[in-house]
Amino acid sequence: MRVNYFCTNANNYDMQKVIITGGTGYIGSHTVVEFQNAGFEVVTIDNLSNSIIEVLDGIKKITGKRPIFYQTDVSEQKNLETVFQEHSSAVAVIHFAAYKAVGESVKEPLKYYHNNIQGLVNILSNMLKYDIPNLVFSSSCTVYGQPEKLPVTEETPVVKPESPYGNTKKINEEIIVDTINSSDNLNAISLRYFNPIGAHTSAHIGELPLGVPDNLLPYITQTAIGLRQELSVFGDDYNTPDGTAIRDYINVCDLAKAHVFAVKRLLNKTSRYETFNIGTGKGSSVMEIIKAFEISTGQKLNYKIVNRRAGDIEQVWADTSKANKVLGWKAEVSLNETVKSAWEWQKRVQES
Ligand code: UFG
Repeated sequence: MRVNYFCTNANNYDMQKVIITGGTGYIGSHTVVEFQNAGFEVVTIDNLSNSIIEVLDGIKKITGKRPIFYQTDVSEQKNLETVFQEHSSAVAVIHFAAYKAVGESVKEPLKYYHNNIQGLVNILSNMLKYDIPNLVFSSSCTVYGQPEKLPVTEETPVVKPESPYGNTKKINEEIIVDTINSSDNLNAISLRYFNPIGAHTSAHIGELPLGVPDNLLPYITQTAIGLRQELSVFGDDYNTPDGTAIRDYINVCDLAKAHVFAVKRLLNKTSRYETFNIGTGKGSSVMEIIKAFEISTGQKLNYKIVNRRAGDIEQVWADTSKANKVLGWKAEVSLNETVKSAWEWQKRVQES
């Protein structure tokens, strides 16, 4: 097993420790920052398949501290167990490590079922074995499909997912519930993310897509900086005010903070299992995102309207009142500030 110790934080005996899988990834790295800022000691696990080790430098520039890091794969139980054994004093696990490309999951479903399902099974087995009682799971609004009624509440029916990726999120939530029901001491919260965008305001960490980005914001920033010729807007004939599809775009730092609120709630032992929608409560169309980008950055964006993308839903946005009331969490950063942060990050990546 290749284990890299970059920092042992040997004096922090009184700090509460959390294990964050996928901690050098996009949402994971922002979440490491928020836990460190909240006074937790953080152990990160990542196989670096979709992220780079230098992310730890960015985290250190923001928080002054490099998290403990293990390069290992959550689907490899033997290696994973060594980490859990060594850090069995952790109060919670925040589990991000998973493949996430919707299109790829349609082409290579077994890759997704193996990594995303086996990874969670291994995490839960270790949590039971080493008595780590609290899990925050990285789920997705994809479990709701195209809902009949908007906004989406946590009571909105979970439907058959559009893709193997979405199915792994649905199955993972079910595995967590079954495991909790069979155990005395395991508790969990699933956070159903809407569309995370933006970067840390310091521009030391952000989204680093490998190859051509699938998602809207990285495609926009790469087009504006000249890496891509033009953005394709996938469809302007949807039943929405301007004809383009609507999503709930949530600032990645706001989203990361929700995990700290979730761990604090789990530590209070108020409930065994809960789900929360993590979004802003407001939907924005693709054209509105383009306008917000142009206004907040002063960059003119080259785009054209093309056909709808297969598998896209028309519109979805969150009812976040449960997260607001029960978790005490609320999205705070505006859309304009968020798209500006994505642009500042893109410029930093270009310079380096
Ligand atoms: N879009 C474009 N052009 C692009 C990229 C995207 O017009 O180049 C549009 C899409 O058609 C969609 C919107 O921008 O209408 C958002 O697309 P993203 O690919 O950024 O995000 P999705 O909503 O398709 O997918 C996201 C996550 C998935 C998750 C899903 C849940 O990436 O992991 O939300 O709904 F499953």
